[in-house]
Amino acid sequence: MNDDWDFDTRAVRAGTQRTGFGEHAEALFMTSSFVFANAAEAAERFKPSSTGFVYSRFSNPTVAMFQDRLAALEGGEACIATSSGMSAIFTTCLGLLDAGDHVVASRSLFGATVQLFNTILARFGITTTYVDPTDPAVWAAATRANTKLFFVETPSNPTAEVADIAALKSIAAAHGVLLAVDNCFCTPALQKPLALGADLVIHSATKFLDGQGRVIGGAVVGGSALIHDKLLPVLRTAGPSLSPFNAWVLLKGLETLSLRMERQSAHALELARWLERHERVAKVLYPGLDSHPQAELVRRQQSAGGAVIGFVLKGDGADDSTLRTAAWRVVDGCKLISITANLGDTRSTITHPATTTHGRVPVEAREAAGIGEGLVRVAVGLENVEDLKRDLDHGLRGS
Ligand SMILES: Cc1ncc(COP(=O)(O)O)c(C=O)c1O
Repeated sequence: MNDDWDFDTRAVRAGTQRTGFGEHAEALFMTSSFVFANAAEAAERFKPSSTGFVYSRFSNPTVAMFQDRLAALEGGEACIATSSGMSAIFTTCLGLLDAGDHVVASRSLFGATVQLFNTILARFGITTTYVDPTDPAVWAAATRANTKLFFVETPSNPTAEVADIAALKSIAAAHGVLLAVDNCFCTPALQKPLALGADLVIHSATKFLDGQGRVIGGAVVGGSALIHDKLLPVLRTAGPSLSPFNAWVLLKGLETLSLRMERQSAHALELARWLERHERVAKVLYPGLDSHPQAELVRRQQSAGGAVIGFVLKGDGADDSTLRTAAWRVVDGCKLISITANLGDTRSTITHPATTTHGRVPVEAREAAGIGEGLVRVAVGLENVEDLKRDLDHGLRGS
């Protein structure tokens, strides 16, 4: 890759390695292992210093092409690809944390991420304090002598809270703590956390990187000391590796990433503005709106608002159960938008986070994160926006 290549050029060209056949599209190496010429070469390849291919749990040429392309897009030195977004987060934690360590995390995280910290990592003596992602001062106050990691998702799923990455980095650096940013909602097409100081960027590649709802995958990008020395040994030994087939699909996904993010963000902005004016909607949570509480930070940190909108319905003033009924009516009223937990697809999707993606998060934590019964999440795809408005309007009006 040329260092002066623009983002769009990197998205379609970076990382490509051709075999002797001169294929134009990247080759798909569906092989579990690689053949050695003799015992001496086998012994050589098994050395940690070797860059040759051995076994696809460790590395694979198609996976390597995806890793190199994503690293080029995020502006990172190195990348490891994993079997899912959750395994990217788990690999990061296993690589960086020891028993007795402490994490400061945003209180607005994807439900499974909260579960990972609260149940699995807690069993190994790793504790987590959750704080407001929008207030850097509380991150400093929550940091202890044993804090090793700051973990944030920005914008958050599904409440669209935005954390100031540069401000968190300066607090993390002052305390000798690493900062990991889940960049799932923006992707490098809209936001580059490493350039703002983050140490690691984490992806659920399942979402916008694939972009067409086909495969599960994940990745972590950062400096080579962290990726190669801390995380790669976990990948190699524990084995949460990305399948070469999925890596090949993700390479194709990256080629259209900036076009999709640009168009889907534009559609989302239009839909968010329409929802803001809708009589049945109490509040719209979307980073691209002028009414977003951190609109100025969003403009500084992101090049567009992204494609995920949360909106809160007006209740009838009775209790929470009427809000759930109203939210489910919106979901059930959709005939075009798919009722599914995934997001980042070219096809728009809708979900009720409190009873699905965030259903396992304890109620108090969910409420602290602003995920109430009246909140609905729409991930906007590439359909015509007027068709999306008509579809949502059925459920909103109860018709
Ligand atoms: C922000 C965020 N991070 C991580 C994940 C986990 O990714 P995966 O489902 O690929 O394991 C998700 C999944 O929805 C997500 O929305």
